[in-house]
This record gives sequence, structure tokens and C-alpha cells, in this order.
Amino acid sequence: MLKGQRILLIIGGGIAAYKTLFLIRRLRERGASVRVVMTEAAGEFVTPLSVGALSENPVFTSLFDLTQEHEIGHIRIARDTDLVVVAPATADLMAKMATGLANDLASTVLLATDKPILVAPAMNPAMWTHPATMRNRATLEADGVRFVGPEDGEMAERDEAGVGRMAEPEAILAAIEKQLGTGGVLAGRHVLVTAGPTHEPIDPVRYIANRSSGKQGYAIAAAAVRAGANVTLVSGPVDLAPPAGADVVNIRTADEMRDAVLAALPADVAIMAAAVADWRVDGAVEQKIKKSDDGGLPSLNFTENPDILATVAQLQDGRPPLVVGFAAETENVVDNATKKRGRKGCDWIVANDVSPDSGVMGGGRNKVHLITDAGTETWPDLPKSDVADRLVTAVAKALDTNT
Ligand code: CTP
Repeated sequence: MLKGQRILLIIGGGIAAYKTLFLIRRLRERGASVRVVMTEAAGEFVTPLSVGALSENPVFTSLFDLTQEHEIGHIRIARDTDLVVVAPATADLMAKMATGLANDLASTVLLATDKPILVAPAMNPAMWTHPATMRNRATLEADGVRFVGPEDGEMAERDEAGVGRMAEPEAILAAIEKQLGTGGVLAGRHVLVTAGPTHEPIDPVRYIANRSSGKQGYAIAAAAVRAGANVTLVSGPVDLAPPAGADVVNIRTADEMRDAVLAALPADVAIMAAAVADWRVDGAVEQKIKKSDDGGLPSLNFTENPDILATVAQLQDGRPPLVVGFAAETENVVDNATKKRGRKGCDWIVANDVSPDSGVMGGGRNKVHLITDAGTETWPDLPKSDVADRLVTAVAKALDTNT
């Protein structure tokens, strides 16, 4: 909740300006008061009328408007707030901020404020990756300015893709809550999640894998972001959009997943939802294996992969205070999962039935049992996002009791 929090939103001139209308609405729903400054260019994309109607406050547009100055001077606009949010932050606005220019109301307020600033850039990918913008970003970061996004994805110019799209309003909201320390139940926590399958190469074009879609792990990462956590998601190859606001580390093999997980520590909780391949092919070859003329079949030898969950759960140094495993079972679900929990040394295990008629693999729903020291809780059949929210709530409660 943001009740009583004052947000000064500076809208720059970019097509993403329309998304800030949704942001204003979300902020108002959560009880924040929103005052808006629009640059002149922003007025080409959204009108002060619609912004004013949503923010329920007058909108400020010009430095030399005497009526506005009379109502509230620009120095007060800059100071009477808890957080300044710049969305969309254009390359031009970032450059002005980095050099300390003050030639319109937005840049003057940004120079005059003594409050924290959160920036949501939006621009063409070539402009974002330009050395000048990267320099400005580094300068701003060194000045203590926080960033949310930009994200990878399709741009308004349809044939352009790359990093530059403004973070979605939900992600900006999560960043605002985090910045104000009012974020959800996991504010200030580092949550490490693994998701998806691993691919173990046979040769450069073939691999062995499993049917994991990654949906449950991605839903957990998204729920943890919503709850205000810093989230690292170590993901195998999946066909899902990265959850906004999470740091995603893409890996392919179990070995790579283990390295990425260990590199992401320390964490307050590790939630291992990945379906790691148990075996890899011993001596995967560099060149494609060809069919032999005499019809002979290739044979594969396997080596066991590292057990990432067990490795983390049994760390002597730097073990997360809470380690949560998953157990995908096709029979005797609770029994097998309980044994797995003991064998691997994790604190909790989330067990589910993945037999083909359960529809869990690749589907949108999940029916799980949460096995802890306190016993087994059986949850109803729920959408994976609800399972994720419940798990995040339980994790937050456990971490709060621990510390
Ligand atoms: N896991 C892991 N590393 C592995 C295998 C599994 O980290 N090499 C983790 C999974 O992410 C999951 C838990 O261990 O959290 C259980 O995975 P599961 O595939 O159910 O168990 P296995 O250890 O593979 O046991 P089995 O195949 O015998 O059921």
C-alpha cells in the first residue's frame, strides 16, 4: 500500500507516455497522491486533461507559467514529494539530468529536487545502446538515480526490436514500492528461483531434455517481484517472456545452472522449480553424429548431473536460510516427496503429481502439497500464479519468523 506517499511523476515525450496513464491509476488505487509534470514533447502523446483527470491534481507543464508558479513554485514541486519518477525517460531527458541542464520545468525540477529519483527509460534500441546514453546512465547511477527497465521487446516501430521498451506499469510500480520501502511482504529480500528444463547436448544439434514449460517457476519469480523482492531467475530454455523486474540468467545445461545458482548467492530463499536433467551424455561430441552406412546405431553413455538443490541445501557456507525444492512425481506423491526432502536436505518441498493425465506439465494449473517440518499441507487445484502467490506468502512468513 502507498497510502500517504507523494509521487512526483515526470512524463517525457515518447510513445510510452500512454502507459504512464495506467501507472497513475495504479498509484491512485494504492492510495498515493500523484502530482505530474509533463515536458512539452509529452503533450504530443498524452494530454494534460487526461493526466489531470487520472491524477486528480493539476498538471504542470511550463516553467514560466505565472499562474502555475503562483499556485506552487517549481522548487516546492521538486521538494514536496517522497519520490520523483521519470517515465518515460527519453534519451534527451537522461542527457539533461546527467549534465545538470535546467531549461524547462521537468529538467529544472529534476535539478532542484533533494528526493530520490527513479527513472524508467524508453527509447529506440540504438539510442539506448549508444555510448552517450550509456555514459549518461552510468553518471546518473553514480549520482544515486535508480533505474527500472528498459526491457527487451518489440518497439513502436514494428521492425525494430531490442532493449529500449519502457518497463510495464506493474514493474514500475514494484520499483516504486521497493524504493519507498513500502513494498510487499518480501521487500528487501533476495529470492533465487530456478525454472524450466535443462538441455543436455548429444552433439551440436541434438539434446536430451524433459517436458518442463517453466510456467510455475516463472510465476513464482513474478509473484516474488510483486511482493517487492530482488529476484534472480536462473532459467533453462523456455518459451516464456521474462518476468518484468526479475534479473534473468539464461542457461542451457545443469552444469551451467549450478554455476549460475552458486554465483547468485547469497539469497534469503532459494526456490528450485527447475526440472533439471538427471543425466548428461558422457562425451558429447563437437560434430553432428552421422548415420552409419551399415545401419549401426549410436550408443549413448550417461553421467549423473550435479544435484543443484542438494548442493545448495547442504552448503556449509552461505546456505540460504530457506531452501525450497520441488518434487515432480507420477505416483505415491507425498511419500516420495517426503523422502526426497530428507535425502536432499531442503527445508520445504512442493510436491506435485505430474502424471500425464494430471495436465500439470505445460498446463496453467497445479495441485500441490507443501511439505515442511510442520507436516503436509494440501492445496486446492489452482492457477500456477495463485500457487506462486501462496508460496511467496508462506516464504515471507517463514523469513519474518526466522529474523
Ligand atoms: N534438482 C536439482 N538438480 C538435479 C535434479 C533435481 O536441483 N540434478 C531439484 C529440482 O529442481 C527439484 C528437486 O531437485 O527442486 C527434485 O527434482 P526431481 O526431478 O523431482 O527429483 P530427482 O532428484 O530428479 O529425483 P527422481 O528423478 O529420482 O524422482
